[in-house]
Order: sequence, then structure tokens, then C-alpha cells
Amino acid sequence: MKKQYNVLIVGAGNIGAFFDTKSSKNILTHANAFYRTEGFNLLGFVDVSENKGKRAATLWDVKYFSTLEDAFNTNEIDVVSVCVPDDYHYDILKKVSNFPIKLVFAEKPLAKNLDQASEIIRIYGEKNIRCLVNYSRRFVNEFNILRKNILEGQYGNFVCGNGYYGKGILHNGSHLIDLLRYLISEIKDFKILSHSFDFYDDDPSVSAILNFENGGNFVMQNVPCSNYTIFEMELLFQYKRIKIVDSGFKIEIYDVLDSEVFAGYKNLYKVKEYETELNKAMLNSVINIYNNLNNDEELKCTLEDGYKDMSICEKLKVEI
Ligand SMILES: NC(=O)c1ccc[n+]([C@@H]2O[C@H](COP(=O)([O-])OP(=O)(O)OC[C@H]3O[C@@H](n4cnc5c(N)ncnc54)[C@H](O)[C@@H]3O)[C@@H](O)[C@H]2O)c1
Repeated sequence: MKKQYNVLIVGAGNIGAFFDTKSSKNILTHANAFYRTEGFNLLGFVDVSENKGKRAATLWDVKYFSTLEDAFNTNEIDVVSVCVPDDYHYDILKKVSNFPIKLVFAEKPLAKNLDQASEIIRIYGEKNIRCLVNYSRRFVNEFNILRKNILEGQYGNFVCGNGYYGKGILHNGSHLIDLLRYLISEIKDFKILSHSFDFYDDDPSVSAILNFENGGNFVMQNVPCSNYTIFEMELLFQYKRIKIVDSGFKIEIYDVLDSEVFAGYKNLYKVKEYETELNKAMLNSVINIYNNLNNDEELKCTLEDGYKDMSICEKLKVEI
């Protein structure tokens, strides 16, 4: 018999509860991922909005608690998902650490600034609370394979790349930075090109050239989110060009082949295009949590990763 872990979701909003339903094909909410994974028992939601909390509770057939105390007074809770807006991550991450929990599944970004993030790391270390940070592309098989191929040198050296995002360097740019750190290497330094406050007053979207520790560079460009939402990148290696498009739902692979036009020249030609299982990232992250609790499987996005992503964002913000 599988062990059962009780789960509480704090923040009954889109990612916590409402992006999907029990019958959706895509698994996009914390609620759906826990609901579908054997070994977890979703107890309910805490939300400052009674209306949203109760709607989510009805949707997922669980309880609504108006406060954390209410939830913990009447239940043993092993896992807490933190799905409140960015501004409240620190408060809630700190508050839940006062209760006897095993693991927190934290929405990105880890916090709003590095002081807050370091304090969370210190507290969780002292209290031995595990934490998985939700930079979703790390939980997708196709991205795991890309990383393996890159690390094994199958594509040759990384040369350069570029990518697009909007809605804040911390809020969304950190997804791009996390994916680059995951696929390429740590970021050594950078040069800022421009910025715009396209959504949050305190979280500008920054365009910059990033230089990697292992060589090569990447131009990240901010595209104001009032136009549309875009999250894409393209990575050029000695022997391959990889395009990550449609938020990461699709990957295109280009090979170096003899030019079809100019004799003696080599060009890049698209040889493959495939869909990823980004729509299952949430399910895979919850499976990672189960395997971590049960068999000590390594967490795929740690507090330290969340901190490193934030530290690049914070340095970029300081210099504008
Ligand atoms: N990993 C990803 O790809 C991804 C995708 C979407 C959102 N997110 C992250 O998830 C978080 C939530 O985003 P969302 O779009 O679901 O937001 P949302 O506004 O739809 O939902 C947030 C909910 O939290 C509640 N809330 C606010 N303060 C609270 C508090 N102190 N205690 C309890 N409840 C509180 C609100 O009432 C609301 O219901 C954000 O930090 C966002 O960055 C991550």
C-alpha cells in the first residue's frame, strides 16, 4: 500500500484551483496534480477570499479553511502548496514553517527579494522542511532530454541564443533564466540593453545580454505583455539549432546540412518539430514530491535554484 500524504493548498486562484477541472486533459493546477496522484489526499484550500476558497473547494470536492490555523487545528498536514501572488510568497512560506509539515511546493518566484529568500532557506534548513520550487519546464521529459544531450556534448559547444518574455524579470523572466541555467550553465555576467515596466510597478521587464560560465551568450528581450504573451527561446550550438516555442509546448530541431542552394556551403534545416508534455509538468512535479518523500528522490528544482534565479533577476534590476 502506498503511503498517503495530506495536502493543503494556500491560494485558491488560477494555478491553485481554476486553470482546469477534474476532467481536463491538461493538468495545470496544483489541485488537479494532487487529485490525480495516488499517495496524496487533497484536504482543501486556504484563501483570504471566502468566495474563491469555497468555489475551489466545491470544484475539487474538498474543504475550505479561512485560516492556516483552522486547517492545521483539525488536520495533520504533510505537504503545503503555496499558490498566492508573488508579493505574499515570503509571508506564507514563513507562516507555514511554524506548523509540523514535511514539504512545501512553492510557486515561483521564491520571494520578492534575496533577503526574504535567504531567510526562507535558513528557516527551512533549520526546521528540516523540504521545498520544491515550481519552475515548470524542469519537470518535462523533453527538456530533461535536451539537457542530457547538451551536457553530453551531442550538439557541440553552445554558441549563442536569444529569447522573449514579458510581465516582469522576476515574475516571468526568472522562468527564462531558470531554463537557461538548467540547459546551458550558470550565468557569469550580463549587460543591460533596455527595460520597461509593462505590468508590475516594482518588477521591470529587462532586456540584456547574458554571458555564461561555460562560454556563449544569450540576448533576452522583453516584449510588453500588453501586446501579447510570449515565451520563446532559440539556442545555437556548433551542430544544432534548437527552438523552444509556444511557451515550451513545442520544440524545433535544426541540423547542419549541405546547402540546397549554394554548393560547398552548410546551412541549418529544420529536421524535426514535436510537442512537449508541458501540459503534464504539474503532474510530474507532484510525482517528484511523492518520490522525494517516499524514496528520497532528488527534488528537481530546489530552494537554492530558486535563490540563484532570483539573484540574477535582482542584479539585473539593481543596474537599471
Ligand atoms: N509555475 C508557473 O508556470 C506559474 C504559472 C502561473 C502562476 N504562477 C505563480 O502562482 C502564483 C499565483 O498565481 P495565480 O495566477 O494563480 O494568482 P491568482 O490571483 O489567480 O490567485 C491567487 C490567490 O491567492 C489568494 N491570496 C492572496 N493573498 C493570500 C493570503 N495571504 N493567504 C491566502 N490566500 C491569499 C487570492 O485571493 C487568490 O485567490 C503567482 O506567484 C504566480 O507567479 C506560476
